[in-house]
Amino acid sequence: MPIRRAVAPGSFDPITLGHIDVIERASPLFDEVIIAVLVNSSKSGMFTIEERIALIKESVAQFPNVKVDSWSGLLVDYCEQNKITAIIKGLRAISDFDYELQMSQMNFQLKGVETFFMATKPDYSFLSSSLVKEIAKYGGDVSSWVPANVLKALKSRFKS
Ligand code: PNS
Repeated sequence: MPIRRAVAPGSFDPITLGHIDVIERASPLFDEVIIAVLVNSSKSGMFTIEERIALIKESVAQFPNVKVDSWSGLLVDYCEQNKITAIIKGLRAISDFDYELQMSQMNFQLKGVETFFMATKPDYSFLSSSLVKEIAKYGGDVSSWVPANVLKALKSRFKS
């Protein structure tokens, strides 16, 4: 039987409990789930790729079949190189759907890679890394939406 390997791609700047919820629920469905931090040259992130990877590794250490990696380039090329046949995406609301549908159809057209959409928990349907960063920047409490290590990293980033 071939290994069923899936990728959960994203910017993860930083990872949130919404991401972790989707990854936790996807992990028993595949032999291996790889969280791929995609390098987006047109987006300047708050955390470096290395920092994001370290934060993700700590927050998913309890899931033995979840690995973390990074990639610069097309997601489908990453999938081809790593024998990945499925992309996992969390959908928070209908507003996510248009663009996600377009990307999933494009990725299928490019290399035949399937996308599996998972509905996020309603508790996290309003959550995004961008909002978390903005709230943390102005001293708001984001402790309900990020793991403890990310909270610590945000606090030390905005200490001044
Ligand atoms: O967390 P994000 O920023 O919403 O993730 C978007 C991401 C990184 C998954 C998407 O932009 C992507 O797949 N980028 C890789 C480049 C690529 O393959 N682009 C063509 C998509 S059809």
